[in-house]
Amino acid sequence: MRPFISSVILSVLIFYVRNGETKLAPDFIRPCNNTSSECLVKATQDAIPEFVKGLPDLGVPPLDPFTIDKLSIPLNGLKVTFYKGKVSGFRKCIVDNIISELENRLFVLQFHCNLTIKGRYDAVGKILLFPINGEGDAKIKLTNLRMKVDINTKYVKDKNGVDHFGVKSYKYTFDYGDKVTFDLQNLFKESKQLSDTVLAFLNDNWKTVAEEFGKPIVDYAVDLAIRTIEKFFVAVPYSELVYVPIPKY
Ligand SMILES: *[C@@H]1O[C@H](CO)[C@@H](O)[C@H](O)[C@H]1NC(C)=O
Ligand SMILES: *[C@@H]1O[C@H](CO)[C@@H](O)[C@H](O)[C@H]1NC(C)=O
Ligand SMILES: *[C@@H]1O[C@H](CO)[C@@H](O)[C@H](O)[C@H]1NC(C)=O
Repeated sequence: MRPFISSVILSVLIFYVRNGETKLAPDFIRPCNNTSSECLVKATQDAIPEFVKGLPDLGVPPLDPFTIDKLSIPLNGLKVTFYKGKVSGFRKCIVDNIISELENRLFVLQFHCNLTIKGRYDAVGKILLFPINGEGDAKIKLTNLRMKVDINTKYVKDKNGVDHFGVKSYKYTFDYGDKVTFDLQNLFKESKQLSDTVLAFLNDNWKTVAEEFGKPIVDYAVDLAIRTIEKFFVAVPYSELVYVPIPKY
């Protein structure tokens, strides 16, 4: 008798727990009641500092800092490899605008950030006019990097029939903002003086330099951020992210 009753109670408990009585979204997620830019910007801005720390229980890795184990940057006549990189600063990004059209499966996010990338590099070949053969510590600072990400979303049911957001595709545009500062030690193994001179030259021409070799790093960062958001969408149901009925699909 008793074991039977307790097993019934247990099943009932399990039933309720598995049918949405427990919230998966962390408390810092404050769902909007509508998709006005005003509400979404505020909710997103408030969530960023916590979200970027990562949510290990939900399988969502940290974004601030995040690491770049190794990244080769293929350039004409120059082979740059960046490794043991640590990118920080996302926690302080400022959200400028958000457009969300649930029916059209469109989500547009605009923000700007100051980011710091620290790591090691090696470079062999030519940059601009200079032959380079260097390796050492690298530190790159971006001031007010501006970005706009257009995400085509989708809706998917998980194996329990619960609705989730998904990412169908995305594209982005950005500009390097106010300034990019390079601190690349040891550009020329042979000569400290030449290293300093060329580094000063690179900084004077930061925009050209960033445009020549920055894109792979930015691509990597955006892709990682999108994958992280996808993991979050897989873990947390639609109904816990926005209090607007899901469009038919
Ligand atoms: C949504 O509406 C509820 C009930 O009116 C309110 O308590 C909550 O603060 C609203 N959410 C936001 C993000 O404004
Ligand atoms: C959207 O929700 C916010 C906060 O709940 C509210 O202040 C605002 O008036 C709403 N906007 C629209 C267009 O309903
Ligand atoms: C980035 O740094 C600059 C200069 O230190 C500062 O004026 C700006 O407000 C910062 N931007 C962000 C998004 O924190």
